[in-house]
Amino acid sequence: MNILVIGTGYVGSTTAMVFAELGCNVTGLDTDEHKIQQLKQGALHFYEPGLEDLLKKHVHSGRIRFTTNKEAAIQGNDVIFICVGTPSRLDGNADLRYVKQVAEDIGQMMGEYKLIITKSTVPVGTQEQITSWVQAAQEKPYPFDVASNPEFLREGKAVEDALNPDRIILGSNSKRATKLLESLYKSVKCPIVITTPRTAELIKYASNAFLATKISYMNELARLCDEMDINVMEVADGMGLDPRIGSSFLQAGIGYGGSCFPKDVSALILAAKQNNVQLEILDKVIHVNQTQYAYLLDKARERLGSFANKKLAVLGLAFKPDTDDTREAPALRVIERLLNEQAHVTVYDPVAKLPNYPPYDVLSVCADVEEAMLDADAVILCTEWPVFKTINWTDMKRLMHQPNLFDGRNMFDAQDMNAMGYYYQGIGYGD
Ligand code: UDX
Repeated sequence: MNILVIGTGYVGSTTAMVFAELGCNVTGLDTDEHKIQQLKQGALHFYEPGLEDLLKKHVHSGRIRFTTNKEAAIQGNDVIFICVGTPSRLDGNADLRYVKQVAEDIGQMMGEYKLIITKSTVPVGTQEQITSWVQAAQEKPYPFDVASNPEFLREGKAVEDALNPDRIILGSNSKRATKLLESLYKSVKCPIVITTPRTAELIKYASNAFLATKISYMNELARLCDEMDINVMEVADGMGLDPRIGSSFLQAGIGYGGSCFPKDVSALILAAKQNNVQLEILDKVIHVNQTQYAYLLDKARERLGSFANKKLAVLGLAFKPDTDDTREAPALRVIERLLNEQAHVTVYDPVAKLPNYPPYDVLSVCADVEEAMLDADAVILCTEWPVFKTINWTDMKRLMHQPNLFDGRNMFDAQDMNAMGYYYQGIGYGD
């Protein structure tokens, strides 16, 4: 099957590579000439384990090609995935201008039947909007269908998730579209849910918001555990054995970040408001998440007296390991607060870079952990990069001015760290 993927960002690149891996002939289309040139040479413009290998493999096999030529790409492919960005507008609504542009291009340039599918997370009702944008742009009424097939992959695990999904959600209101979509996924072994486009669109938001809820619930419980002198990780282990609860996403920490959870939870609350429904639980999910980093910093401030003129080493910038993505990363909030309170901040992350806008542009990422921790009064650990486990913490202690470790990801065992001479605070380990 010939497939066109419009938008070669995170979701688009992964979608393109996965369909090439499944045996389709894939074209990746983007307006960004520079990105397309890079991709043609097998180079990925973001960090994602395993994805660049797949890119190289399929550029070489010829199963994937990249272009900026919209007309030829749209005319040459009957199945079109829309994977362009849907950033948040200032009012919190998703900005669908790129989706609209793509729909209009397809409407103007199509010469025969097209199946148009949204992969990007889009608000409920977008399938209907795309249908009307395509229709309005058409000169002749060529037939087409618009379906919703949301993507559930996680950054850092994109290839694994996209090749072995838990489920495939197909929101389609046409038999022709459903048949095409089913044949596209015929070699993927997982349940396929066929539903309406609106339901499919909501499933994506509802899933992300539920996962965010699990995290905030555990983070709130962690605060209680600190007061009760109980280890939240043991509580999570005990809870997770109940299959109705499940053991994943019960990891208390410094809060969730990334390009999806914060944006999707807010978008769902807003969509509900526009339908006169107040999603009160989700309001609290955001509140807990936004205050969680401050909860850890309060503990650090209490220990140090104040942050002014203290040297604080922030380990981990990315919103989670195995990605260079710092969007909505708790580490950025930590750094901003520390700078506001006149601390000297050093930062280390094995992959991610600091944003090049204030207040972060005054700092630079240290070359290694040693440089970041030299003379530090405390470490604030914000991302659970596995490499932090391999640090020789006994040697590091000698480099530090004061051996204080505030572990925002509960990476370490409190007793082990105490035995090495650290003052150690996790989140929900009991005070
Ligand atoms: C998420 C969804 O998991 C994915 O299905 C969707 O397609 C996109 O959004 P992603 O944002 O890549 O994926 O990361 P995820 O692994 O879900 O983690 C999100 C955030 O939650 C991270 O900051 C992570 O550190 C945090 N988290 C996760 C916790 O704090 N505790 C947990 O138990 C799990």
